[in-house]
Amino acid sequence: MLTCPLCQAPLSQLDNGVVCPAGHRFDRARQGYLNLLPVQHKNSRDPGDNQAMVEARRNFLDAGHYAPVAKRLAELASERQPGAWLDIGCGEGYYTAQLAQALPDAQGYALDISREAVKRACRRAPAVTWMVASMARVPLADQSCQFVASVFSPLDWAEARRVLSPGGGLMRVGPTSGHLMELRQALYDEVRPYADDKHLGLVPPGMAHAHSETLEFRLSLVAPQARADLLAMTPHGWRASADKRAQVIEHPAPFDVTVSMRYDYFVRQD
Ligand SMILES: C[S@@+](CC[C@H](N)C(=O)[O-])C[C@H]1O[C@@H](n2cnc3c(N)ncnc32)[C@H](O)[C@@H]1O
Repeated sequence: MLTCPLCQAPLSQLDNGVVCPAGHRFDRARQGYLNLLPVQHKNSRDPGDNQAMVEARRNFLDAGHYAPVAKRLAELASERQPGAWLDIGCGEGYYTAQLAQALPDAQGYALDISREAVKRACRRAPAVTWMVASMARVPLADQSCQFVASVFSPLDWAEARRVLSPGGGLMRVGPTSGHLMELRQALYDEVRPYADDKHLGLVPPGMAHAHSETLEFRLSLVAPQARADLLAMTPHGWRASADKRAQVIEHPAPFDVTVSMRYDYFVRQD
């Protein structure tokens, strides 16, 4: 299943990592993840989300604020019963771990370009193969997965399609234009609407849009720390002014927000 990110040949296991027939070796970290991101594929020293973002997201998600989002994703995955699955852009593994629980007999893979994220993620579900890797060069063989998840993450559609077997599918989870509306209204003078479905224009030929649904609920953020974590794990943490962010964090409790997620499922046809 695993392939070399440099020459795409199959990788075989060593005690402390993996190697391809051409001798390209990749280490397994002591935490258990594989480092499949060669230095020449990095466009910065520490690509992906940094430690502060990863920790804020872990604190926020572990507090259960998005539990219904993960539960629905796990249900949708379990209905499809894949033999092998991949979480692309898995972050610190909150959703991945729940996919692993919902798919106990399947082989799970998860990757993220952020070492800080994968380092923490791999503690959540040791049976999953965790990889620091780029979604632009997924180190998995063609047609090796029946289910791919992409949650709140950028997505390389062509790579997602490549690793899916025909009949398998990609579940993309992302915000609708109403997501966190109250927070955005508190942070910005003008909140511009955007199209929820602009990603549909990126779907490559040979993939069919098979299912779409929206999950919406209200969240009451009582603790200032929860609001600080939510800001720190999103672009609002650097995009909004410091004054506006402080107003949100110090807002007299509670601060109510709408969570609005869209699930889209795309099936590989051939
Ligand atoms: C908003 S986070 C979502 C993380 C996780 N799916 C979640 O919802 O908790 C987006 C993730 O995409 C990762 N990412 C960004 N560019 C990437 C790339 N080229 N390859 C792999 N991961 C990438 C980031 O490091 C980050 O962890």
